[in-house]
Amino acid sequence: MKSVPTLFFTTAAVFALTGMIWGIQMSAIHDHTLSPAHGHLNLIGFVAMAVFGAYYALTPSAASSKIAPIHFGLTVMTVLVLVPGIVLAITETGETLAKFGSVFAVGSMALFLFMVIRHGVGDPIPNDPRVSTPSTQPAK
Ligand code: HEM
Repeated sequence: MKSVPTLFFTTAAVFALTGMIWGIQMSAIHDHTLSPAHGHLNLIGFVAMAVFGAYYALTPSAASSKIAPIHFGLTVMTVLVLVPGIVLAITETGETLAKFGSVFAVGSMALFLFMVIRHGVGDPIPNDPRVSTPSTQPAK
């Protein structure tokens, strides 16, 4: 399986490209009605996912935890539910999807807060033999 940072960054780029194509389409037809949905696709799908990916790349102990792939899945679910949910809400065809999406969004950010508190930033995998601590450095 791909590493958690790779999953976050790859998905972020896919969402960004989708959001940009959507932005170009909105500009081309001179109809910006759905711009809040485009904004959320780019900001959660690209910016937040890239921030999460950077955090996991910096913090191997967090990336190796069982919660990291769950965090990835929840963030992808957030985008896939919230963005169409905002479209439905704007077009006044239902708000249920947007409500579920916003709960997922809060869950994803709460999980990020939990990971940062639990693992800090930059912590290596515990007992990883590839990481040498000052006490294990040979004397010069
Ligand atoms: C090819 C790239 C992009 C194009 C052509 C594009 C196009 C647009 C257009 C036409 C609007 C509506 C503006 C208005 O009605 O005032 C918009 C709004 C917005 N875009 Fe983009 N966009 C692009 C990329 C991005 C990216 C990369 C982000 C964020 C990382 C982003 C975030 C937003 C936000 C936050 C809004 C405002 C949404 C709102 O008013 O509720 N866009 N964009």
